[in-house]
Amino acid sequence: MSLLAIRDVSKRFGGVNALAGVTFEVEQGDILGIIGPNGAGKTTLLNCISGLYRPDAGDIRWETTSIRGLAPYRIARLGIGRTFQIVRPFPSMTVRENTAMGALFGRPGARLQPGAALNEADMVLDVVGLGEKRHYPVLRLTVPDRKRLEVARALAMRPRLLLLDEVMAGLNQVEIEQALEMVRRVRDSGVTIVLIEHVMKVIVGVCRRALVLNFGRTLVEGPPAEVLKDRRVIEAYLGQRYARDQEK
Ligand SMILES: Nc1ncnc2c1ncn2[C@@H]1O[C@H](COP(=O)(O)OP(=O)(O)O)[C@@H](O)[C@H]1O
Ligand SMILES: [Mg+2]
Repeated sequence: MSLLAIRDVSKRFGGVNALAGVTFEVEQGDILGIIGPNGAGKTTLLNCISGLYRPDAGDIRWETTSIRGLAPYRIARLGIGRTFQIVRPFPSMTVRENTAMGALFGRPGARLQPGAALNEADMVLDVVGLGEKRHYPVLRLTVPDRKRLEVARALAMRPRLLLLDEVMAGLNQVEIEQALEMVRRVRDSGVTIVLIEHVMKVIVGVCRRALVLNFGRTLVEGPPAEVLKDRRVIEAYLGQRYARDQEK
């Protein structure tokens, strides 16, 4: 049985078919990369999985139960954590306090004591490489560090599945390598990952499978190296003329 199963999910906004019948599964322990041109429906897909949007049609199953239409906090408590493309921490708090909020409010069962939440924060801040900056006010963090903080806040909720929306956008080569290490550490800690990423090096570097969305539909799915060589994918990104030129 797969951990997450997306079946024929569709979502419209006015006249736009943001998602038009998307189907795929995520196995426990997998890292699935989702790529596709701007406007392809990638963020909408994460929003449907995490409950921010209710799909118009189709089903989303978490293990044996349908989670379609559940409120975001309920989906989070089932063990699905996410980051947002636009980072929005609590500005007046430190890195550690921001992270502890995830541990305090995102968990199933009895609420943690504040001390326990802070300990949990310290643990996940080490995983994302922010341990030494845990007492910084968040406003002092650089862009890559703010993205790490987003991941830490999601991890503090102890997710079994983590959804990452372009957490490596705007990073330089060294920062991308560090972020790749972070993703591998998260996976090695037993968390299944679905990540949206424009940086192809990331997709090839950590994903076992890649899925290409285009106009709300799955264009190609398979091992990353094969997917990125696929003519349909090259066309979707660069236009048909480029793809033809490559074949000459
Ligand atoms: N809340 C919304 N209201 C109206 N249109 C939306 C909304 N969210 C997404 N869309 C539209 O749905 C399409 C897919 O957007 P999105 O999922 O953000 O794409 P991606 O993340 O792949 O760039 C776009 O045409 C976008 O304008
Ligand atoms: Mg997006």
